Order: sequence, then C-alpha cells, then structure tokens
Amino acid sequence: MTESSIDAREFRTALACFATGVTVVTARSADGENCGMTASSFNSVSMDPPLVLWSVTKTALSADVFRQAERYTIHVLGSEQQGIASQFATRGIDKFEGVSYGHDQYGVPVLEEHAVRFDCKQWAVYEGGDHWIIVGEVTGIERCNKEVLVFCEGSFATPNPIRTAPAAERSMEEPESPVDRLLLYNLARAYHQMSNQFHSGVRDSGLSIPQWRILASLYGQVSRTRQDLQDRTFLDRESLNDCLAQLEKNRLCVVSAENSTVSGTEAGHERVRHLFELGQAQERDAVGGKSLDDLIDHLAEIVKNT
Ligand SMILES: Cc1cc2nc3c(=O)[nH]c(=O)nc-3n(C[C@H](O)[C@H](O)[C@H](O)COP(=O)(O)O)c2cc1C
Repeated sequence: MTESSIDAREFRTALACFATGVTVVTARSADGENCGMTASSFNSVSMDPPLVLWSVTKTALSADVFRQAERYTIHVLGSEQQGIASQFATRGIDKFEGVSYGHDQYGVPVLEEHAVRFDCKQWAVYEGGDHWIIVGEVTGIERCNKEVLVFCEGSFATPNPIRTAPAAERSMEEPESPVDRLLLYNLARAYHQMSNQFHSGVRDSGLSIPQWRILASLYGQVSRTRQDLQDRTFLDRESLNDCLAQLEKNRLCVVSAENSTVSGTEAGHERVRHLFELGQAQERDAVGGKSLDDLIDHLAEIVKNT
C-alpha cells in the first residue's frame, strides 16, 4: 500500500524533465538467447566496490533474463546511436538485427559501437514497485571517445556544453583553430544555438518540445499513424501516447475512432502556425542567399555571438 495520490501521467512528465544518458543493457538468457533493452535508469551506486544500478519494468519480456543473469553489459550509447536506442526499445523484435556485435567470455552479447561499456556481475536485485532494481558490480570498462546520447522530455538530444565566459570576452581570447573552419562542427553548434532560441519560442507558446513536434508533423491537414508520428518525433511509444492524450484533452488533436490515425484540429494548426513563421524567419535570417563560404562564416558568427 502507498500513501501516494500522484497522477501517473503527471509523475512521468515530471520525471522526463530529468535528462539522462541512454544505455543498452545486454545479457544471455539461460537457454542461450541474446537479450537486450534500452534503459535510461542507469546510475552509479558505489566506488568501492564499484557498483552501478539500473531498473527494469517487471512487464518487460526480458525482465526475468536480467533478474537471473549472472553477467550483463551496460553500453552507454553515442549521440549517433539513436537508431540503436529505438531498436532496443521495441518490444517483440529481433533487437540485434543489423547490429554489429560479438560475445564476451561469458557469452554476453556486446555491441561493437558504444561510448562506454560497463561489464557487470550481478550484485543484488531488489523489488522496487513495478520495477526490478538491478545492482551490478563493474568488472570491466571500455571507453571510446564519443559524444554521448542524451534523453530528456521524451526526446533524444546531444549534450550542449554550457559556456562559462561571456561571448565577447571569449572571442577576444580564443584564436581561430582549424576546427572553427569545419562545416560539420559549425553546423552542429549553430544547430544547438538556433534550436535553443526556437525552443524557447515553443515553450513561450505553452507547448512542450515533443508536443510541438507532434503538432508540426500534423500541420497541413495530414493524418498520421502513431508509428509514423513516433518516427518523426523521436518519441518512445509511452511518451507519444502521453503527449497525444494531453493534446487531445486540450482539443489540439484528435485520434480516429478506430485509434489508428491522428490528425490536428483547427486549434492545433493555429497553435503552431506562428511557430512555423518564427522558425522560417530565423532560418531566413541565418542562411538567406549566402554562398557556402559565407554560410560557414555566418554559422561561426552565430556560435560566437550567442
Ligand atoms: C530512452 C529510453 C529509455 C528507457 N529506459 C528504460 C528503463 O530504464 N527501464 C525499463 O524497464 N524500460 C526502459 N525503456 C523501455 C524499454 O526499452 C522497452 O520497453 C523495451 O522494449 C523492453 O524490452 P522487452 O523487449 O524485453 O520488453 C526505455 C525506453 C527508451 C526509449
């Protein structure tokens, strides 16, 4: 029995504000099958002995495998591994299809690509409500020099370091380095700066970023399936369902009677119309009529001045 009267959706939405990394945990079942699932509940526990934890919902198909596994591996994903995160979060498919992996000496499937890998030995399993809390002793670490994948408010993201010195001071201090002339580097940084600016406009309009992504995908009288929306918004199924329920409650979208497709209402389209205008104005401002070289200079300028 609990004393809590917290609304489940409210609880999930509040928890989603806590940004985490994204891991894929893998193990081998007693009958030799490869198991794996995406988990963001990973955390550190103890330095001596070196312990980590994560939790698995009791309803996961692989819950019993992880509860009983003597060995498993936790892979912290890199920022380019969104596809792997989504694949390992999809129930009932062959999670390893198309993924490069091998096996360690205990037969645990290990992914070739990752930012960090923690090989674990089962330390303890605790019951935590509708989840099992799994504590592992770390027996091996493998680190690759990769930017990590982040999960926040139901969406994947990349880490965007906070700048400490004011822009003017910094540009005086920092000499131009070769990386400042790399298109990809400038695109990535300008993307973060521009999306931060745009996202604050989204929040000011009373929408969360996932809600904006959904309504934007429905803009222009299109109906979309839940799967299509999931693919377009990078939301996992539960987060998408929560967002759709909230949008439907606010009469911004409607789910068809047979629950197969979703469309925006006139109020939903109206809500995002000015955000499209805002986004387009920002883009015009950033790239309008420039050559590639000018564009690089301009992107670098955006980065410097923000
Ligand atoms: C970013 C992300 C993080 C997740 N974190 C967890 C988690 O920590 N624990 C959990 O039980 N499920 C988590 N899930 C959901 C599982 O990955 C998903 O339910 C998976 O299909 C379960 O595997 P199964 O095929 O064994 O049922 C997460 C999903 C996503 C997209």
